[in-house]
Amino acid sequence: MIPVITIDGPSGSGKGTIASLLAERLGWHFLDSGALYRVLGLAAVRQGVGLDRAASLAELARALAVEFVDDRVLLAGEDVSLVIRSEQAAAAASQVAALPTVREALLGWQRRFSRPPGLVADGRDMGTVVFPDAALKVFLTASAEERARRRYKQLKEKGLDVNFDNLLAEIEERDERDRSRAVAPLRAADGALEMDTTTLSIAEVLGRVEAAVCKALARAVV
Ligand code: DC
Repeated sequence: MIPVITIDGPSGSGKGTIASLLAERLGWHFLDSGALYRVLGLAAVRQGVGLDRAASLAELARALAVEFVDDRVLLAGEDVSLVIRSEQAAAAASQVAALPTVREALLGWQRRFSRPPGLVADGRDMGTVVFPDAALKVFLTASAEERARRRYKQLKEKGLDVNFDNLLAEIEERDERDRSRAVAPLRAADGALEMDTTTLSIAEVLGRVEAAVCKALARAVV
């Protein structure tokens, strides 16, 4: 059994940062499943495929030439790490992610990331759908304002042009779509460790998650 730790939550909850730091600390593989949906959204926009065309998008998903190399995300060999971070790309990702055929097409792809010595997977449905047998499931949240503040800082640091009020509105709209969709909606998995990170630092969240990981892995070996 390859151990998997899932970290789910809405955008800006800190899940991406915590998941990648944890993977690094453990020396495990890391899956940023949101990047997959973002790349698919980008490929669809570039190829002129409507974001509601379920069958065409599923076909595109199955043939998606995406690769994760170190910290970079490649689409057909092109480094798209930065373009997929824009709020436009996020909105396209959230739209294609609402389609059951698309989610189904990406399922096997995501599960193949589970390789020795272990995997930390970050997303919306990692604990509920993709890795239901995970050794530990974590669900992070934070207030919408705090999440928009974090996103604003992150995007600014990447040199992207952003407006705080627009960002907050877009985040709220995207959360609503991710929470209310019929298939694999954003929600905490049963038995997940739920944590509100609004007033916590990254180090505090990581410390709590690491303590839970130690307990879960100890449980798994006895
Ligand atoms: O985590 P993120 O912000 O990069 O994700 C972008 C969008 O992709 C998000 O709005 C919803 C979708 N997504 C999803 O539906 N399921 C996942 N496991 C990851 C992301």
